[in-house]
Amino acid sequence: MSRIPTTDPKQATGNMSSLSRPVLSPVEMFGRRLRNRLAVAPMTRVSASGDGLATDRMKDYYRDFARGGFAIVITEGTYTDKDASQGYDRQPGIADRRQANSWKPVANSIADHGSLAIMQLMHAGALSQRQGADRVVAPSAVPPLGEMMPAYGGSGPYRLPSAMTTTDLAQVRKGFVAAARRARRAGFHGVEIHAANGYLLDQFITDYTNRRDDGYGGAVSARIRYPAEIVAAVRDSSPDDFVVGIRVSEAKVNDFNYRWGGKSEAETIFVALAEAGASYIHVAGEGRGFRESSTDNREPLTTMARGMTGLPVIANGGLHDPDLADDVIRNEHADLISLGRAALATPNWPRRIANGERVVPFENVMISPSASIQNTDAWFARQLAHGMHA
Ligand SMILES: Cc1cc2nc3c(=O)[nH]c(=O)nc-3n(C[C@H](O)[C@H](O)[C@H](O)COP(=O)(O)O)c2cc1C
Repeated sequence: MSRIPTTDPKQATGNMSSLSRPVLSPVEMFGRRLRNRLAVAPMTRVSASGDGLATDRMKDYYRDFARGGFAIVITEGTYTDKDASQGYDRQPGIADRRQANSWKPVANSIADHGSLAIMQLMHAGALSQRQGADRVVAPSAVPPLGEMMPAYGGSGPYRLPSAMTTTDLAQVRKGFVAAARRARRAGFHGVEIHAANGYLLDQFITDYTNRRDDGYGGAVSARIRYPAEIVAAVRDSSPDDFVVGIRVSEAKVNDFNYRWGGKSEAETIFVALAEAGASYIHVAGEGRGFRESSTDNREPLTTMARGMTGLPVIANGGLHDPDLADDVIRNEHADLISLGRAALATPNWPRRIANGERVVPFENVMISPSASIQNTDAWFARQLAHGMHA
């Protein structure tokens, strides 16, 4: 079932030429021509098979974003190894050849529709809420704040993780490298390393979840060391034209209020990731809008990241108003915009904005009680039955 809203010229909202919309302007980046500045933000949909394979429905789901005009499609966080990386039941993996093969039709259908296919690689660390996991690991044995998220199949407090040993550090690093190689062989143009939103690599960056005293904890220059090592290891083992992005954020799914220690801490983080060889920096707006994503002096984090590294930067968080998204590009706060919930509600958002057509506003029930694709499909089916969004 395709849930792309069909085009209804009667509901057009006025036609602003795509040429005058900065967000729809093409750009040369990553050695390619991107048709516009729009990426689909990574969104976990807990819709894989029980053994972590990408399904036919997932193929159509991702294809719809590419067909709908997004220049870049970033997949949901995909787990990297069979040990302790998996965050959720029904989360897809790229931890073995079978899982990698299941992604081939997804990568191909994104590429066939002219978009860049990027797989987000994720290790959940202490925020794993998988039923029956043997082991939960983290930089340090610190109980996570908050409670597991029901929309992704969890409830109650998170488990107490065990602190990663030196052997664990090497194994997890190898897991990321092998996962990136499998993603490349499956047809992806690149990977995005998930170091945002409170998951394993963000747990290293964050002061209160990283209490290590082995050179990977303490000052921010040490806390960023492990995520930077992962970027460098993936970069070194990939061909030059393979994109190796990194995603960071201040806020976390279990702590919306966390902030980095000002501009100098931001600089240490961004510069270390750039020196490690990241192709781009994606600043997630977890739980807060792009406008709030700034540290001491109200300069957006994305603007800082661009200035400090010269890398392409993706802005994210509440940028579903095309005029606001245009402002971010026009004012050079970022090179690209990623849309999460707006893309989920309107997979052909770029085409519809280019044509001056109405978009479907995101509603929380689309991902509640479950964040699954099936739950969103059911929402659209109910709307169609009531003659809405036809
Ligand atoms: C259903 C859902 C699943 C998400 N899963 C991920 C994920 O797997 N990886 C990630 O980095 N961010 C994830 N996010 C965060 C989004 O990428 C994005 O940062 C957030 O929704 C804010 O952007 P928006 O205002 O455009 O929706 C998820 C968000 C939603 C709504």
